[in-house]
Amino acid sequence: MLLNLPTAPIMFFGGKGGVGKTTVANATALKLSPHASTLVVSTDPAHNVGHLWDKKVGDSPTRVRDGIDILELDPARATEEHLKQAGDTMRRMMPEHLHKEVTKHLNLSRQSPGTHEAAMLERIATIIEDYEDTYDHIIFDTAPSGHTSRLMALPELMSAWTDGLLERRAKSEKFSDLVRGLTPTGKDTTVTTAEDPVDRRNQELRSILLKRRRRFERLRTVLTDATACQFHIVLTAERLPVLETDEFYQELHSNGVHVGALIVNRRSPADQGEFLASRRKYEDEALADLHRRLPDLEVIEIPLRPNDVGSPQALEAIADYLAQ
Ligand SMILES: Nc1ncnc2c1ncn2[C@@H]1O[C@H](COP(=O)(O)OP(=O)(O)O)[C@@H](O)[C@H]1O
Ligand SMILES: [Mg+2]
Repeated sequence: MLLNLPTAPIMFFGGKGGVGKTTVANATALKLSPHASTLVVSTDPAHNVGHLWDKKVGDSPTRVRDGIDILELDPARATEEHLKQAGDTMRRMMPEHLHKEVTKHLNLSRQSPGTHEAAMLERIATIIEDYEDTYDHIIFDTAPSGHTSRLMALPELMSAWTDGLLERRAKSEKFSDLVRGLTPTGKDTTVTTAEDPVDRRNQELRSILLKRRRRFERLRTVLTDATACQFHIVLTAERLPVLETDEFYQELHSNGVHVGALIVNRRSPADQGEFLASRRKYEDEALADLHRRLPDLEVIEIPLRPNDVGSPQALEAIADYLAQ
């Protein structure tokens, strides 16, 4: 099935709150479902995917219909897991008497800016690792824009961070080798045996850090490969959302993320009275501005529906605008 919007194994839907990200992300899965299997992952803490499918959904895939599984990412759990892993690694690096400090530091970082994003990113990376072979598509229905664009810049930062740790680690290993060589009973430091607890700890630590770095590097590769990943921006045809979409696009673009389509949702009808006709005209002006700012992007329009679209049946109507 050829959709109007460019498809890829991994797709993200982003945009402001309430514009229709969840609706369009799930309508896309619906449109793909006769031919391909999709996992829809909600990363917006204000989850409503479960409501949409009228199913109780959790932090692992739940089947909502043939070809569509849903997962609502639990941000609190992601943060706890992330901090636990970070804590385990840090405790391995620090001498015993500093372990209390590590715990204190981690308790503080639970509240600090960036922790939540890093945790979400790690979870997104593991979801891709765990499920990319199970499903034809993984669709991420993301939180409002600011949050998501920061997220897309993170893999680079996280790789740099693990690199820094690895480097520091290498230096301190060299240093401890040296110290060991200097002690009167010093062993021959040219031979490293796996039985040496310090060497073993170092090896273990290096492998944890390397694994983490590889995870972020791989995510970075996926996010910046247009054949692997497409990011679609959902918006309404209004002046401010258009300006924000332009900014959002530039941010994603500068992070190397490929924007597939702009999906303009809730377009007012021109033939339903003066009020809506006047709105339609205002929207047309906003869209002219959008085309001027981002002339090369695919724009897909979805009309404002007269009824609730928060049900599987209603979703079909939305899905029809995604492929013709
Ligand atoms: N084209 C549309 N016509 C009418 N209602 C819509 C349309 N698109 C979305 N909605 C409704 O708008 C609300 C917000 O949509 P949602 O997809 O949850 O937005 P987001 O995920 O971006 O916060 C929902 O109640 C949804 O049913
Ligand atoms: Mg949503």
